[in-house]
Amino acid sequence: MLSRRRDRSQRGKRSSLTHFRREWKVVFASALIASISATAEAGGLVLIAAAAEQIGTPGAVELEMGPLALDLTFVQSLVISALLIAASGAGRVLANYLTIRKRAALTRRWRTQLVGGFLASDFAHQSEKRRGEVLETAGQHAAAAGHVLEILANALNSFLSMLILVAGAYALDPVVATILLVGGAGLLLVLRPMTKRAKRLSARVASIDVEFGNHLDEMVRMAKDIEVFGGSRWFGRKAAVLARESATTSQKVFLLNRSAPVIYQVFGLLLLLGALAISSTINATSITAIGGSALLLLRGISYGQQLSSFQQNIARWTPYLENVLHQLEVYEARTNEFGRLEIASVETIEFDSVSYTYDEGGSEAILDISVVVKRPGITGLVGASGSGKSTLAQLILRLRRPTTGSILVNGIDSAEFAAESWRRTVSFVPQEAELIHGTLTENVAFFREWVTEAEVRAAIEAVGLSDLVESLEEGFDTIIGPSLRQVSGGQKQRIGIARALVGRPSLFVLDEPTSALDDESEAWVMKAIRSLSETCAVIIITHRASTRSHCDILIRLENGRLSSIDPVS
Ligand SMILES: Nc1ncnc2c1ncn2[C@@H]1O[C@H](COP(=O)(O)OP(=O)(O)O)[C@@H](O)[C@H]1O
Ligand SMILES: [Mg+2]
Repeated sequence: MLSRRRDRSQRGKRSSLTHFRREWKVVFASALIASISATAEAGGLVLIAAAAEQIGTPGAVELEMGPLALDLTFVQSLVISALLIAASGAGRVLANYLTIRKRAALTRRWRTQLVGGFLASDFAHQSEKRRGEVLETAGQHAAAAGHVLEILANALNSFLSMLILVAGAYALDPVVATILLVGGAGLLLVLRPMTKRAKRLSARVASIDVEFGNHLDEMVRMAKDIEVFGGSRWFGRKAAVLARESATTSQKVFLLNRSAPVIYQVFGLLLLLGALAISSTINATSITAIGGSALLLLRGISYGQQLSSFQQNIARWTPYLENVLHQLEVYEARTNEFGRLEIASVETIEFDSVSYTYDEGGSEAILDISVVVKRPGITGLVGASGSGKSTLAQLILRLRRPTTGSILVNGIDSAEFAAESWRRTVSFVPQEAELIHGTLTENVAFFREWVTEAEVRAAIEAVGLSDLVESLEEGFDTIIGPSLRQVSGGQKQRIGIARALVGRPSLFVLDEPTSALDDESEAWVMKAIRSLSETCAVIIITHRASTRSHCDILIRLENGRLSSIDPVS
């Protein structure tokens, strides 16, 4: 299992940019439109230069450029030039629109995949994840990663536009165009070290931001404890340190990003001046040729400038893309696997030499356990803290898979059962049930659309919460939630039991459900569990002697091993 996981994530390792293979159509369409726009622009610029030559010597504008020979009036040439330049502008907007739309679609796809990937990954993986990382990746990083496609497309468009303008200039004045082209390429090489630094710093910003997200998550989650233990200064200081680190590092990245195009432009213009000077001494060409090629090259330089920021921009945003793709690979490698068999009810659960290790090569949390639990009845799971009770509960629920051995349900490996079917058959009550922000009904039904309102009411009644419903302003429709305070700890726990009851499962696993309860709440909970146990298999982890007395059988764990199985007399 583990080795296959590793293989899959290694196989997926590839250059992040090849991820855009599927987007080639959009990139191609955008490049085509950009090239047509650049050609129109080149035509417009040459006409301006030709018209300018006519200002001193009125008459027809004569233009010869390769196979192209035109004979236009001054006004005609200005009008055509204006139309060509306007069309090229419209074309460029359209080219941008195509890539921007694709970029937004990519962000949407990544977000959906990241959320889906997290939900589909196994619990062992989910429980290792820090919340800030999950939030930051699906939130900011997924949005930032889409930038990369836009940058790639823009770079291709700038490159083609530049090529077309330089080719036009070359037809008019080869000397100037050659000097500029060679100089421009050299300049890109000179700027390379800046690119590398930008990429390194940008990856650093991305990881600081993840850390910042984790820190804020902890701060909100632990607000009460932070207040009581006086941790606010420490939290504030650490947030300030992270914010400062993020700010100074991104400042450097921005500076590098903005400087490269400026350097490029300044040197480009200087190069153009030099080239014009050289050309004028060795060639005796017309104003149309010199002026036209100068105009084309000026525009060419500005495309080249956009191209020069390509490297910096790619360096700035690829770390986000890499993180998003990495996360997607991890999720894929850790997908929770279910079988196809349907299951109507749990009759027997048989542990067959089950062992479980949290960390590869670490010590066993569960060691060689073989035991059978049958329906109906209450099985108590007892043992000192750390003896492996919660781990065993998670193994029964299929939240974790045994490292060795197997868990047979009705004689079949529990891994064989289909997800939906399995989830309807088993249920769980944790030590402290958590509320979602929603109505009381929603908290009990808990996203199971097939649960009816009548079932919710019956479950609420079974755990003795009818009084609570009456005291709430809007009864079942009252919004309750983790940050609202109308519900006490004991009531919250009973809502958790009602949530488990309402699914009508045949196997209940309860992990110390009464440890934080007052006697009245415990009595209600045990009453509900007793009546359940007449038809269901109940496995309850407990420390309380009063709860233990309700059990039919007690399984005792010691350091992950089965130490005894005793009937309760
Ligand atoms: N998520 C985890 N990662 C690594 N070790 C864990 C994890 N959860 C529990 N353990 C270890 O497994 C052992 C059994 O823990 P647990 O099943 O929680 O015991 P119990 O519920 O009986 O107190 C302990 O040694 C504990 O430290
Ligand atoms: Mg426990």
